Formats: sequence, structure tokens, C-alpha cells
Amino acid sequence: MIITFATQKGGTGKTTLAIAFANYISGLTKRKIKVYDFDFQKSFYYKWKEDEQSDLPKMYEVETIGEDDEQPFSDFETLINMKESDEINLFDLAGTLDQKYSDLLIYSDFIIIPFEYSDVSVKSTLVFKNLLGLLESEAERIFIRSKYDKGYKYPNQKEMDEEISKYGTLIENPVFKRNSLQTIDTRKLTYEQKYAVKKPFNEIIDQINSILKITL
Ligand SMILES: Nc1ncnc2c1ncn2[C@@H]1O[C@H](COP(=O)(O)OP(=O)(O)OP(=O)(O)O)[C@@H](O)[C@H]1O
Ligand SMILES: [Mg+2]
Repeated sequence: MIITFATQKGGTGKTTLAIAFANYISGLTKRKIKVYDFDFQKSFYYKWKEDEQSDLPKMYEVETIGEDDEQPFSDFETLINMKESDEINLFDLAGTLDQKYSDLLIYSDFIIIPFEYSDVSVKSTLVFKNLLGLLESEAERIFIRSKYDKGYKYPNQKEMDEEISKYGTLIENPVFKRNSLQTIDTRKLTYEQKYAVKKPFNEIIDQINSILKITL
């Protein structure tokens, strides 16, 4: 299967959530997890490399892709094999959209879209949703509130939630803004980090299991 963390807006928490998700499911599933860093900034990959210093064992491999290729998946078979595989292929994308992402966005099983309630984030999220529509992407869209501030009443939340729910699944539990998530690494989830993502990630996993009719 292919699970892609993507949206049009930079800095919404894609990489943080992708690392947390990879770590979280590593503790749950027997399936092989493979991560592809498809962002020219290579944040996930560099973190994973840096963590080679750690005494803890690595939980998954991370590869960078798409550095030189305009269309890294011009070879469709690779992509379709990943999609049909029982293994979990996680992709972390850049915050700027690029033509080279088209095939991946079309053939992902799930696209996890972190968003915030600022005006720019709301607009970018809808632009991204429109792009997926134009591409006729078959992927299930999973929207997740990221860096959510518990103590703040977001004035546009209700309207935004209604709009977003038309285009995919809106995960009920947000990922709150937490200092612990700012120091995440690829070898472990601390108790605090696990606590920060457990509820929304369990919702995502339920969604994956029910749509693909599997147990992760
Ligand atoms: N839930 C959270 N609580 C607190 N800080 C967070 C949270 N999620 C992400 N951050 C912080 O926000 C910043 C941006 O996060 P991250 O790099 O994951 O976003 P991104 O969408 O991958 O960005 P880019 O578009 O540049 O790839 C980082 O400094 C990260 O530590
Ligand atoms: Mg990133």
C-alpha cells in the first residue's frame, strides 16, 4: 500500500507526522515499512541518517527519491507494485507541489493532509483538494488537524470542517501543538509523543483497515 503525507502548504507538520506515524505503526504491525523522502529538503532522510548515531535499533529504511528525475515513476510498474504490496510504503512530500508528484498522488491509497485553521492554510488545503480532483486521484483523502492549539477557539473552524468533510475523512482527534513533537527522531516514540498522536493515529489506522479490509 501507499500512504502519502502531502499538502500544498509548507510547515504544516507533514514530516513530523510522517516520522511519528512510521514510528507508531512500527510498534503495531509486522508488515515491512519503507519510507520515501520525496522532498528536496530531505528532512526525514537527514533525520534518519543523523539517528544512525543512536544506540536504538532502526525501525525502517528511508530512501530519497526524485532528485534528478522529472518523472520518477515513469516506470508505472514500480508504483503499482508498491500499491499492491502488503508492505507499507510511506511518502513524505515537499510543501510545494510539483508535476513530478502527479503519479504518486493519483495512485496513493491514502493521502494524509495535515492542516491548520489559519486563512493561508485553509486556502492551500482547498487548492490541494482541487488539484487532487483535477488529477482524478483515486486516493482516500484523510484530513488531520495539525499543531492544534487546545486553548484557542478558531473562528473559522466550523465552516472549514464542513467544507473539508465533503472531500474526505476529517480525523476527529487533532494533533495538538506539543513541544515533545519538535524533538521527534526516527528510532523511538517517547511516552509524551505517543500520547500526542495516539488518538488521531488510531483513527487513521481504523480508516486504513476498514477501506483496505486488512489489519495493519
Ligand atoms: N504538533 C506539533 N506541535 C508542535 N510543533 C510542531 C508540531 N508539528 C510540527 N511542529 C513543528 O513545526 C515545524 C514544521 O513541521 P514539519 O517540518 O513537520 O512540517 P512540514 O509540513 O514537513 O514542512 P515542509 O513543508 O517544509 O516539509 C517544525 O519545527 C516542527 O517541529
Ligand atoms: Mg517536511
